[in-house]
Amino acid sequence: MKRVSLTQFLVEQQRQNNSIPAELRLLIEVVARACKTISHAVGKGALGEVLGTAGSENVQGEVQKKLDIISNEILLEANEWGGHLAAMASEEMETIHPIPNRYPRGEYLLMFDPLDGSSNIDVNVSIGTIFSVLKAPEGMSTPTEQDFLQPGTKQVAAGYAVYGPQTVLVLTTGNGVNCFTLDREMGSWVLTQSNVQIPADTKEFAINASNSRHWYPPVTRYVDEMLAGKTGPRGKDFNMRWIASMVADVHRILNRGGIFMYPADLREPEKAGKLRLMYEANPMAMIVEQAGGMATNGKERILDIQPTALHQRVAVFLGSRNEVELVTSYHKE
Ligand code: AHG
Ligand code: MN
Ligand code: MN
Ligand code: MN
Repeated sequence: MKRVSLTQFLVEQQRQNNSIPAELRLLIEVVARACKTISHAVGKGALGEVLGTAGSENVQGEVQKKLDIISNEILLEANEWGGHLAAMASEEMETIHPIPNRYPRGEYLLMFDPLDGSSNIDVNVSIGTIFSVLKAPEGMSTPTEQDFLQPGTKQVAAGYAVYGPQTVLVLTTGNGVNCFTLDREMGSWVLTQSNVQIPADTKEFAINASNSRHWYPPVTRYVDEMLAGKTGPRGKDFNMRWIASMVADVHRILNRGGIFMYPADLREPEKAGKLRLMYEANPMAMIVEQAGGMATNGKERILDIQPTALHQRVAVFLGSRNEVELVTSYHKE
């Protein structure tokens, strides 16, 4: 494959169908550069004194890892001065972060999960960064949380970086999903997969099965049928994977199919599960749909959900279309 850099790819996309205004292209490149810096910090591990906890808690009530905070800082510092953004929001910040007055303000809003899969940091398992881009509402003056509360269909770009054996950036601006592998020697993102498509069927599911006693009946029925294998109603054997980094599980599904589930459960019905809508479920749902897959909360399309709070949680069923359709149909019976 001819070597195409992220910049060249974005410029050519901009030229072809102007789906990526220059401002958005430049913003994506800033985020990609920040992910390179995070990848470098992640790769240092114990040598870079980035492991372990920071001794603080985030708005989610989670103990923050040093890399949660380091990654958040890297994204804030990289994006503040560029002039493309009006404000940012993050899993690791309780309130939104308007661009300081000393910098020019742009027309985009950026949300991110700076370090996804934090429980894997200290045990050297793949982790990642997830990001989502919205346009600021017309006529917005001082950015508020309300300006971020737009349904996922309003996203103009979404992506993630997975820090694994390779560092790969996965990106969509609404015209398909493309993947870029980091060439560490040159420090550049190189196009390595074009217009990725998720197989509609699969034999692999991802769920944290230790929560099974808390599941609602439709999830229990769906998983039990797969566990029954060839002799059960599905007539085939299934395999299970659970990495506990959404980015790594989604990346596997993007490449070979599968269904990822983090359902709401009986423990805290009002919380609707663990994953956050604005900077985990929505960007991943846009990517999965752009790759021909499907993403619901068990009842409706994730991208159609009207957000009511910046850190609200949502149940997630995403991946191979025929499987997400099936488990969603069980919720409607
Ligand atoms: P984060 O590290 O950003 O808080 O996200 C962790 C999420 C997600 O990446 C993963 O799929 C899920 O938590 C794992 O949850 P369990 O530890 O309950 O399995
Ligand atoms: Mn977290
Ligand atoms: Mn996360
Ligand atoms: Mn996180």
